[in-house]
Amino acid sequence: MSYLRQVIRSLLLAFVLYSPLQAQANTSVSSRPTSPFSIALQTLQNQIQYTFQDVELLRRAMTHASYSGENNRALSVLGEKAVEGSVSLQLLRKNIDMSPKDLNQAIAELSSNVVASCAADGERLGLQKIVRVSPKTNSSAPAVVCGAFRAMFGAIAIDTSNLDSAGKVFFGIHGQGMGKAMAM
Ligand SMILES: *[C@@H]1O[C@H](CO)[C@@H](O)[C@H](O)[C@H]1NC(C)=O
Ligand SMILES: *[C@@H]1O[C@H](CO)[C@@H](O)[C@H](O)[C@H]1NC(C)=O
Repeated sequence: MSYLRQVIRSLLLAFVLYSPLQAQANTSVSSRPTSPFSIALQTLQNQIQYTFQDVELLRRAMTHASYSGENNRALSVLGEKAVEGSVSLQLLRKNIDMSPKDLNQAIAELSSNVVASCAADGERLGLQKIVRVSPKTNSSAPAVVCGAFRAMFGAIAIDTSNLDSAGKVFFGIHGQGMGKAMAM
């Protein structure tokens, strides 16, 4: 009898001790402001001085194909085109009489510039630490960093429904290298 009472008491005690812990754990999970990934996305937006209306787009831009089917591959293509289009727009706005040859050359120069520097630009922003990849994939590999870097501009283009705004953010990040192309 007393043994049973003791068992019940310890069960009650266990329950009393256990449930507040459980409640606390649940509270701390639900009230946790953001995951490390979300915090990294926030920091990235501060760095590039662009705040997404739909941060889901940036999430996707920072997701490599090895991690998920919902990845940044198409955004990366759009990002590259957006930057090229934005450069064309600004060059022609400055000089509507620019020859097609010069314009094509400026775009080609920019493209090789973007291709050559996307890994460095992306790394400078710390994208290798943000982009989500499968455990077997090296997130510092230039192709991974470049893909994420370009996809970021594709994401901005969609977020704003405007290719030029993506280009402007690009110039903000890559300002120095653009001087020559824009001066033409
Ligand atoms: C805590 O969360 C778990 C899993 O979601 C749930 O089963 C449990 O009932 C919750 N406990 C409390 C005290 O809310
Ligand atoms: C990942 O890639 C970077 C850049 O190419 C390289 O320096 C590094 O050694 C690689 N790490 C691993 C674990 O392969």
